[in-house]
Amino acid sequence: MANKVPGAQVARYDGAKLTRHDFPPDFIFGCATSNYQVSIPVYTCTCKILDGSNGCFAIDHYNRFKEDVALLKKLGVDAYRFSLSWSRILPGGRLNGGINREGVKFYNDLIDLLLAEGIEPCVTIFFFDVPQCLEDEYGGFLSPKIVQDFAEYAEVCFFEFGDRVKFWITQNEPITFTKNGYVDGSFPPGHGSTSAQPSAKNAVGHRCARRVDNTCYGGDAGTEPYIVAHHLILAHADPYSDAPADIEAASRALDFMFGWFVAPIVTGDYPPVMRERVGNRLPKFTPNEVKLVKGSYDFLGINYYTTNWAAYKPTPPAVRDGVPIGEQAGSDWLYVVPYGIRNLLVHAKNKYNNPIIYLTENGVDEKNDRSATITTALKDDHRIKYHQEHLAFLKEAMDLGVRLMGYFPWSPFDNYEWTEGYTVRFGMYYVDYVNGYTRYPKRSAIWYMNFLNKNVLPCPKKQIKEIEDDNASAKRKRGY
Ligand code: NOJ
Repeated sequence: MANKVPGAQVARYDGAKLTRHDFPPDFIFGCATSNYQVSIPVYTCTCKILDGSNGCFAIDHYNRFKEDVALLKKLGVDAYRFSLSWSRILPGGRLNGGINREGVKFYNDLIDLLLAEGIEPCVTIFFFDVPQCLEDEYGGFLSPKIVQDFAEYAEVCFFEFGDRVKFWITQNEPITFTKNGYVDGSFPPGHGSTSAQPSAKNAVGHRCARRVDNTCYGGDAGTEPYIVAHHLILAHADPYSDAPADIEAASRALDFMFGWFVAPIVTGDYPPVMRERVGNRLPKFTPNEVKLVKGSYDFLGINYYTTNWAAYKPTPPAVRDGVPIGEQAGSDWLYVVPYGIRNLLVHAKNKYNNPIIYLTENGVDEKNDRSATITTALKDDHRIKYHQEHLAFLKEAMDLGVRLMGYFPWSPFDNYEWTEGYTVRFGMYYVDYVNGYTRYPKRSAIWYMNFLNKNVLPCPKKQIKEIEDDNASAKRKRGY
């Protein structure tokens, strides 16, 4: 567990020894996906994707959900977090455009099957995919009209599924949606003043008809993000040095990312530092809106992957004194910093009235090495270590009084990783994109099975061997 990064903190628990029994009996262990990343398309390719791919088809979860639920059952999870597609349910974006019964049936079937298998469905209502018709009609989240339409869509979801779904998450990572959609333009609708810089290399798989396109499609990164911004944010920053300016920068960064979305629902307003710095560009809540927004949550969902340095500089460096903040994973932005999760949780507890929190995503990726054999690709020991180390810090946070109630690794399956396309893999199950989307358990899936197993199986190595043998014989049958 030793981390060579100066200042890195070591956990008090040994993550490798933890099992679910070290957490309270009602603590929920699950895993998480989103509609677009595993299922079927809603919006079309923006051509900003590293390998020129899109989420059309993704990993075909739509047609394979029965098999996928069986795999979740095998993992032994208590819960499955997935998202609904707004346009699959309301193709016109609103009720007067009609309800797509086929789409509703898909989610009903999924929910019923999960419940039959004893897996709690945890539903995210909005996960980045705005119906194109609302985007075209009034600019999506740039318009106040979306508030009413979102409420209508949510009502339809509660009506159709609320008899069985008890665990609802309104929006996923509003900061990502805001920043990527309206600051750097890497996500739809691609507004902003700078753009992500994907390249066309590694281009295979689900190809986009257009060439890779890094342009932003208008907008104003100085005002639009503040108009678009809502709800919860997940990210955090540690100070780059002990210099007061860097410490202040770290605190400001937390307020501008985490506080931006959490403060309004807890206190009824944006953090004071945002009011001070953003001035008139930051919308004001009317007294009625304050009443509506303040306290409008039962729990906070936090997605945690990494930690960044925050310095008193326009672009904080990823490395300090030549050393990255943590080991780099498959994606450029992902550095492994397990202690950051404890610090963020403790910050949320202290600053925001000790809310109930679910860790709704946590995970790590590796590059999709297309020349590697599947057998090699299944050996994801780094992922096991990642989860173990994060769980150790989660326990510490709970000892410190954080009211954490659940943990959802991202992701049970390799899937479509937005601008990275299929160039990285986040799954515990490997998905063979080349041969029929077959799923194979990676070592981390077996670790999670053991971690979750109610009777605790202390010899994962034997199981790993058995499952790897099964994988090998399945591959032989397929002829590779
Ligand atoms: C968080 C996002 O919610 C999810 O869509 C994404 O795949 C993971 N981060 C990994 O980048």
